[in-house]
Amino acid sequence: MKEKLIRKCLFPAAGYGTRFLPATKATPKEMLPILTKPLIQYGVEEAIAAGMDTMAIVTGRGKRAIEDHFDISYELEHQIKGTSKEHYLTEIRSVIEKCTFSYTRQIEMKGLGHAILTGGETLIGNEPFAVILADDLCDHEGNGVLAQMVELYEKYKCSIVAIEEVPKDETYKYGVIEGKEIEEGIFMISNMVEKPDPKDAPSNLAIIGRYILTPDIYEIIKNTKPGKNGELQITDSLMIQAKENMVIGYKFKGKRFDCGSIDGFVEATNHFYNKAK
Ligand code: UTP
Repeated sequence: MKEKLIRKCLFPAAGYGTRFLPATKATPKEMLPILTKPLIQYGVEEAIAAGMDTMAIVTGRGKRAIEDHFDISYELEHQIKGTSKEHYLTEIRSVIEKCTFSYTRQIEMKGLGHAILTGGETLIGNEPFAVILADDLCDHEGNGVLAQMVELYEKYKCSIVAIEEVPKDETYKYGVIEGKEIEEGIFMISNMVEKPDPKDAPSNLAIIGRYILTPDIYEIIKNTKPGKNGELQITDSLMIQAKENMVIGYKFKGKRFDCGSIDGFVEATNHFYNKAK
């Protein structure tokens, strides 16, 4: 059997989710459900479908519900065992059986780059790994976005970011890339800017919440200066990696919902509701 090059997936989930207050005051944003499943479970299922079995989650204060979700709830299991309601637990049981979970806390919210360094060094170690931002919910008939990226990694063996075209006037919400298209939908990145004003954006190709990173990124993050909003931006570190080595932008197949925003969350809910009908 072919050796798996990427077995571990990191979920930075320490953010406050302020756009969903007050819902996120005592509940992690990643636990908000689209229909019956919390956002982070969709992410974990995507990682499992891409062949991964080790989930590493960066949490923060008030995020314990995530750990409880990926664990057995003895009282509940005991109560509904053998009843007509037991099937409601089938999906989550199967997720828990297929992989392991580990957690670390990001003590201070110093940005996505810092969250990746915190989780990567302690929970992943010296191997390439995937990153999922669970509030970017992706759906695709056939291979999921992460599975598509793993396939690409086997060919290029460098860091990869998922990108999509966004309206030019929305570039200020994203990291935006510039690059040469070396194959259809595959860009060798030459420039990357975090949340640029539309007039300064090098393109309308925005980075979304799926990455494959090589472990040299840790040292690069440590040597990256805080950027926009005084935070360690992963985009700035990836730009250094792109100059020193190579980073690829991949226009993925599928649909992405920005579930960190109310509009995207409602859109995703409608999409999965119509799909389930
Ligand atoms: P966001 O920019 O969406 O921030 O972070 P947020 O706090 O989750 O949400 P708002 O903007 O306050 O509503 C993007 C991703 O990076 C993680 C978040 O959990 C989210 O998945 N993140 C960000 C961290 O884990 N740590 C950080 O310091 C910053």
